[in-house]
Amino acid sequence: MNDAPRIVLLPGDGIGPEIVAAARRLLEELGDYRFNEQLMGGCSIDEHGVALTEDVLAACRESDAVLLGAVGGPKWDTTDPDAPRPEQGLLGLRKGMGLYANLRPVRPSPALVSASPLRPEVIANTDLLVVRELTGGIYFGQSGRDGDTAHDTCEYSVDEVERIARAAFDAARHRAEGRGGDARVTSVDKANVLETSRLWREVVTQVGDANPDVQLEHLLVDNAAMQLVSRPSDFDTIVTENLFGDILSDESAMLTGSLGMLPSASLGADGAPGLFEPVHGSAPDIAGQGVANPLATFLSAAMMLRHGLGQADRAGRIEAAVDAVLGRGLRTPDLATAGESTVGTDEITDAVLVEIGQ
Ligand code: IPM
Ligand code: MG
Repeated sequence: MNDAPRIVLLPGDGIGPEIVAAARRLLEELGDYRFNEQLMGGCSIDEHGVALTEDVLAACRESDAVLLGAVGGPKWDTTDPDAPRPEQGLLGLRKGMGLYANLRPVRPSPALVSASPLRPEVIANTDLLVVRELTGGIYFGQSGRDGDTAHDTCEYSVDEVERIARAAFDAARHRAEGRGGDARVTSVDKANVLETSRLWREVVTQVGDANPDVQLEHLLVDNAAMQLVSRPSDFDTIVTENLFGDILSDESAMLTGSLGMLPSASLGADGAPGLFEPVHGSAPDIAGQGVANPLATFLSAAMMLRHGLGQADRAGRIEAAVDAVLGRGLRTPDLATAGESTVGTDEITDAVLVEIGQ
């Protein structure tokens, strides 16, 4: 019997198919995996009229891990509340697979520090993790229109806050073990205005009391947005609710100047399959040209091996190979600064495969 891990690949839209094909080559070089490629997003709307079919959700639930490219594009942009949208596929997967914890690590690759919009001395030593609650809050609350008004509701329960807080404290402790030094969590809310945020703060404080080895601070979200650009290297693990996490994780990603480099993991209950995807979107303007940067997808595959499949050494090999290739000066167009020569998706993938083979 073949007991190789079963990976569902969801290439999606735009550059998704190119970067997922590159990641598949990388994984095939590393070991034995059983792949099952499925439609999700705009491509699924075109084929089936919905962004995520029941069959695809079932395949994902039955897998060991899911690797996603990106979804969406101008072809499916609409404000019609009844028209299908690619993003519904992503939200359906998060809810349907119970993926409540979204981990977005931000660490500028040493070779790319000069790409940051911040001064080198401000960005130096930045190494943080955004832990975003992913299945609650305003994204999944009751919403609708009534005549000329519209509403979206934000709701959180104690249980929802507790489990994401625990995930953040565990992640912070893990990071501190790897790196040395104290484990630190910054919880972000809007407790001066929102009731859900006051509940959030109360529950996170209780979880903090039960984890006295981890330092806990609370920041209001507007202040957090400001501190992230003024002193990014002071942050370690940031935990926040769904919408604040959406916004702060894009801000954190841009600190490095290379959104094209950042991976993410969405995890559910222990033992359940996770979903791994690059943070950047589907970049429809460059789709099909062979110039998409596959590195964030490679690093997402590394997170999949580490967090989803228990293959930490292979994950480390991917991360080292990506750093080595950047260190040798290879750049896709999104990473290049003026005057630097660039390579395409295939060339940078070949170079990573060569490093892996060594
Ligand atoms: C993200 C994206 C999604 C979100 C969109 C595509 C629905 O921005 O993963 O951060 O808002 O969660
Ligand atoms: Mg986002």
